[in-house]
Amino acid sequence: MKIIISGKGGSGKSTISTLIARSLAAHGFNVLLVDADESNFGLQRLLGVDAPVHLMDDFGGKAHFKKNWMGTASEGLFKDHTRISDLPQTCIAQSGDVKLLIIGKVHSHGEGCACPMGVLSKSILAKLDVMENEVVVVDAEAGVEHFGRRVDGECDLVLGVVDPSFESFMLAKKMESMAYAAGCEIFFILNKATPDVLTDMKSHIPADKIIAVIPHNNAVFMDSLKGNRLEKDLPEIDPVCKLIKDRKNRPANRANLFSVKPGK
Ligand SMILES: Nc1ncnc2c1ncn2[C@@H]1O[C@H](COP(=O)(O)OP(=O)(O)OP(=O)(O)O)[C@@H](O)[C@H]1O
Ligand SMILES: [Mg+2]
Repeated sequence: MKIIISGKGGSGKSTISTLIARSLAAHGFNVLLVDADESNFGLQRLLGVDAPVHLMDDFGGKAHFKKNWMGTASEGLFKDHTRISDLPQTCIAQSGDVKLLIIGKVHSHGEGCACPMGVLSKSILAKLDVMENEVVVVDAEAGVEHFGRRVDGECDLVLGVVDPSFESFMLAKKMESMAYAAGCEIFFILNKATPDVLTDMKSHIPADKIIAVIPHNNAVFMDSLKGNRLEKDLPEIDPVCKLIKDRKNRPANRANLFSVKPGK
C-alpha cells in the first residue's frame, strides 16, 4: 500500500509521516518512508539519521536527469515490479525498522524548476511493487503540486494534514476534490488541535473523513525547535495505522469514498 501525506506548509506533514511510519513499523510492517519534498531537509532529523544519497543524485544529478530522463524516457527509469529491496542501498537510511528514501532537493540558485523530482517520485511510485507486509509512506511537499504532477495517482490513499488555519481548511476542500479526480481515497488528520480551536476545525472537515485528532504537543514542538530527533510517540496516531491495516485487507470501493464530488 502506498500512502501520501499532504497538506499546507508547516501543518505537520513530516512529523505525522514519521509518527505513522514508526507506528506501522512497530506493528510489524516493513516501512519505506519517501521524502518527496524538494525543499525541506527535516525528515532525516525527525528520524535521527544522516541523509542517504538522494535518488536524484544516484541518477547523476538534476541537470543530467533533465537531459536524459524526462518525457517518455522516464518510462525506463525503473523496471516493472521493482521491489523496495531493489532500490540502491546507498539511497536508503535505516532508522529502527523504517527505511528512508530521499528523492532529491533543490540545491542552488537558478538551477531550474523541481519538475524532475516530480517525475522521479511518480516513476518510482508507479513501478514499486509493495508486498503484503510492506507500506510506502510519502511525505509530500507543501500544497497541491503533487496532485498536478499526478504523483497521487500512483498512491492508494491520501492523508491530508489540517492545522488550525483558514488556509488549511480551504486547502482540505481542494485536496478532497483533487484526490477524487486522482481516483484516490482521502482522509484527514487534524493536527495541533488545542481544545479552543477543535470545534472550528471540525466544522470545516466532513466528520466521516476525520481519522485522527492530534493535540498540540509541546515535546514535539521543542524537539523540532532544538533540531533534535522526534522522540515522542503519540497514541492519537493509532487510528491511522488501524485504517491502513484495514485498507490493506480490503480493496477500496472507489465509487463510495468521497464526500465532495468534482465541481462542488
Ligand atoms: N502536534 C504538534 N504539536 C506541536 N507542534 C507540532 C505538531 N505537529 C507539528 N508540529 C510542529 O510544527 C512545525 C512544522 O511541522 P512539520 O515540519 O512536520 O510540518 P510540515 O507540514 O512537514 O512542514 P513543511 O511544509 O515545511 O514541510 C514543527 O515545528 C513541528 O514540530
Ligand atoms: Mg515537511
